[in-house]
Amino acid sequence: MKLFLDTAHLADIETANGWGILQGITTNPSLAAKEGLEFHDLIRAITDVVAGPVSAEVVADNRDEMVAQGQVLAKIADNVVVKVPMSREGVAAGARLVGMGIPINVTLVFSTAQAILAATIGATFVSPFLGRIDDVGNDGLSLLAEIVETYAAQGYDTEVLAASLRHSQHVVQSARIGADAATMPFAVMDRLFDHPLTDIGNERFNKDWQAYQQALADRRKK
Ligand code: E4P
Repeated sequence: MKLFLDTAHLADIETANGWGILQGITTNPSLAAKEGLEFHDLIRAITDVVAGPVSAEVVADNRDEMVAQGQVLAKIADNVVVKVPMSREGVAAGARLVGMGIPINVTLVFSTAQAILAATIGATFVSPFLGRIDDVGNDGLSLLAEIVETYAAQGYDTEVLAASLRHSQHVVQSARIGADAATMPFAVMDRLFDHPLTDIGNERFNKDWQAYQQALADRRKK
């Protein structure tokens, strides 16, 4: 499962990229709005840092405008993936973009029926929003499992991108279920490193190493 960051914040993107584990980025209009940069400049700056797919979303209420926006976004860099919303207009726009050879990510997916539509138009990614499903009292991971199972049964090529993840267990369970990729906020990726026994172990190894070096130094003095 590939690990993506769900952010448009360059400092966080650079930090995660420095860890050597960052395989892609997803952005959305709300995340872009926080950064205070012109949208195309922001996407360009992200693609300058990240080699993997960078999702950039179109915002319009009709397919023609979505297609026009998607074409402009796709020209920013080879690794831009145009995000289209799950809607009649979004799917129609997505089908046209795919026909032009532009990779798309169908976003705001909350059902297997919607995920089937995304695969049918040849989307590169489908993004079920697990956390938002949990927020309304349903089970996002069950939906993910149903989509992964359905895609396997049908042999669809579209990659399942688990999105709207809230914590480490969402990431772990998405991997167990067989998601192709998972996109998460920086704080969630950061916490994947942590375990209290790792901290205790590192502390003990460092302490023992210092004592060992001190003992060797004392012996040399004698
Ligand atoms: C995915 O592409 C979306 O940007 C995202 O995961 C939404 O997550 P949220 O529910 O935390 O806003």
